[in-house]
Amino acid sequence: ESIRVFAPATVANVTCGFDVLGFAVNSPGDEVILRFKEKPGIQISQITGDDGRLSKDPNLNTVSIAIQDYLQRTDWSGGIDIELHKKMPFGSGLGSSAASAVAGVFAINKLLGDKLDTPALLPSAMEGERVACGSAHADNVAPSLYGGFVIIRSYDPLDVIKIPTPKDLYAVIIHPQIEVNTKDARNILKKKIAMQDAIRQWGNVAGLIAGLTQSDYGLISRSMEDVIVEPVRSLLIPAYDVVKNSALNAGALGCGISGSGPSLFALSQEEGVATTVGAAMCDAFRSEKIDSEIYISKI
Ligand code: HSE
Repeated sequence: ESIRVFAPATVANVTCGFDVLGFAVNSPGDEVILRFKEKPGIQISQITGDDGRLSKDPNLNTVSIAIQDYLQRTDWSGGIDIELHKKMPFGSGLGSSAASAVAGVFAINKLLGDKLDTPALLPSAMEGERVACGSAHADNVAPSLYGGFVIIRSYDPLDVIKIPTPKDLYAVIIHPQIEVNTKDARNILKKKIAMQDAIRQWGNVAGLIAGLTQSDYGLISRSMEDVIVEPVRSLLIPAYDVVKNSALNAGALGCGISGSGPSLFALSQEEGVATTVGAAMCDAFRSEKIDSEIYISKI
């Protein structure tokens, strides 16, 4: 008996919502295949798409750590063999580690007959994220697990809310061929922020959520502003302002860093606009001699 599960890439933060807002796209994503094995314990028999960079040691890999956490919580001690097929770039800001962890916990839960409900899988997926990124943030794992837009209202206790998405909303993600490590991108952030920045930021978060739930595209657009994290992290991304401006000039509702970068994302109301936006962003990177990949997805 075996099971194959796909979990999608995600855009965390969505400009103003650092660590509290994220959404899932249709592709790319990661695939996990699980099988029972006779000997108790878990093993990783195969990893593809990682250029040999991921460890097969079950104590060091995001997917096995998440599965191990699930098995401990559900008190199951049989044998599981794991295959991990990475189908998206590492260190890209697309939630690569989250997709592996989510695919893993979703798969083990199905294989063992849905011992837990979907929300209860989240803490195990977050354990995988803790190992990969040094922090158990949920703004990639939660949308990868639930789909659509998800708010993490609170981490302690964990309080996750899926919100409706406007009928017509398209995400462009552009991935320049450079890598940014999430741990590093978190370490450079300021530990304290000014009250006036906080006020502006929580106004934007509130506006963005209202805009999404009411399909108010103007409000979504006005609210896609980040005065706290973007000014620091954009310094890690070559030609950031040029690429962002090219997206806005091409008609995007808004544009920002996807997760901890280096990918940028932009939202658009129409598919045709999204295609134009993607091409404009790609051209902007090319004019700075940086190759990039484009992903377009209906949210
Ligand atoms: N919220 C996290 C961060 C997402 O920005 O560090 C990382 O993918």
